Amino acid sequence: MAHINEAGVKKIVEICDRYANEKTPLMMILSDIQNEYGYIPLEVQQIVSEKTGISVADIYGVVTFYSFFSLEPKGKYVIGCCLGTACYVKGAQQIIDKFSEILGVKPGETTADGLFTIDALRCIGACGIAPAVTINGKVYPKMTVDQVGQVVQEYLDKEGK
Ligand code: FES
Repeated sequence: MAHINEAGVKKIVEICDRYANEKTPLMMILSDIQNEYGYIPLEVQQIVSEKTGISVADIYGVVTFYSFFSLEPKGKYVIGCCLGTACYVKGAQQIIDKFSEILGVKPGETTADGLFTIDALRCIGACGIAPAVTINGKVYPKMTVDQVGQVVQEYLDKEGK
C-alpha cells in the first residue's frame, strides 16, 4: 500500500464513514484499517486526517503508541514475545534475544523475506504460563531458549524452507 490506489483510498474513506457518528472514532477506524491492510502508513494517516479532522500528529501518536498498530507491513508470521514482568523474570529477554539472533532482526523488525516479524509485547494476560510467546495467535507456553530454534523451524517447514 506504499502507493495507495484509488480503490485503496475509497476503502479507507468507507472505513472512516462507518464511524462517522461516533464521538471518538479513531481507535475503531485504525483497528479496521490495521485488520484490512496489516499496517497504517503515513499516506493512509493523511487520508484519515482529512476525513475526520483529527491531526496527523495525533493519529501518528496513537499508531506508534499501541503495539498492535504498525507503520510498516508485518511479516506473514508475527512472533509476539511478552516482556511483561512475570515473563521477564522468567527469562523472556533471553527468548526474544534468541529469536533476534536466529532471524537476524530486532524486535519491531521484519525479516527481508517478509516471513517473520518480532514484536515485544506488554503483558498478554497469560502470566501463569510465563514466559509466553504467541505466533499469529497461537500461544507457546513456558518457552525456553532451547525451544526457539525448533519453533522457528516449525514455520520454515510450513514454507518448505
Ligand atoms: S507478563 Fe507475560 S503474560 Fe503477563
